[in-house]
Amino acid sequence: MNIVGIMAATATGVIGKDNGLPWNYPEELDHFRMLTKGHRMIMGQRTFETTPTDLFLERTPIVFSQEDSFKNPYGCTVRDLEECLTLIQTFQDSGKIFMIGGAEIAHLFLEAALISSFILTKIHHPYPGDTYLNLKFFEGWSEEILTSNLLYTIIHLTPKDTP
Ligand SMILES: NC(=O)c1ccc[n+]([C@@H]2O[C@H](COP(=O)([O-])OP(=O)(O)OC[C@H]3O[C@@H](n4cnc5c(N)ncnc54)[C@H](OP(=O)(O)O)[C@@H]3O)[C@@H](O)[C@H]2O)c1
Repeated sequence: MNIVGIMAATATGVIGKDNGLPWNYPEELDHFRMLTKGHRMIMGQRTFETTPTDLFLERTPIVFSQEDSFKNPYGCTVRDLEECLTLIQTFQDSGKIFMIGGAEIAHLFLEAALISSFILTKIHHPYPGDTYLNLKFFEGWSEEILTSNLLYTIIHLTPKDTP
């Protein structure tokens, strides 16, 4: 199963504040849009609620939620990891699957070692926030810099035991 993580975090792991992003970097979002266009995106319900809906027209969302009242008119809803993995196995096309966060869902997939690689934007400024990605998961992963500028560095992380 090939699931690619794609998220942005500060050096301390901050990824969110007040249910949104702490920064506003349009070029970084363009990079996200370019890589994910035409593919599926796994996410948590809170991330779904704050993602601009135009993104879902060309990227099918697979949303984690256990709320019966939750509705995802753009794609599928899954109640747990097992249901998500069963769903993914039914896909016959060559589309990619991205895990885009937030922290709860990222940790779920990282703990289960279900992420084959991770595209992480390292935000240089130490923005404060209230939601953290546990960067300890990436200790020992190999790291390749994809691009860098004054505001952020985008790296490709791969678990060490990947052939
Ligand atoms: N910087 C980045 O790259 C990035 C990326 C994504 C999000 N964010 C930010 O991160 C924050 C949101 O992250 P978050 O960690 O609070 O929330 P989240 O992971 O987006 O969503 C959490 C929700 O997912 C559902 N969920 C979690 N675990 C589940 C499980 N095992 N089975 C079924 N459903 C499960 C629950 O929904 P129900 O309550 O409906 O059951 C839970 O409330 C926001 O600030 C957002 O802007 C940042």
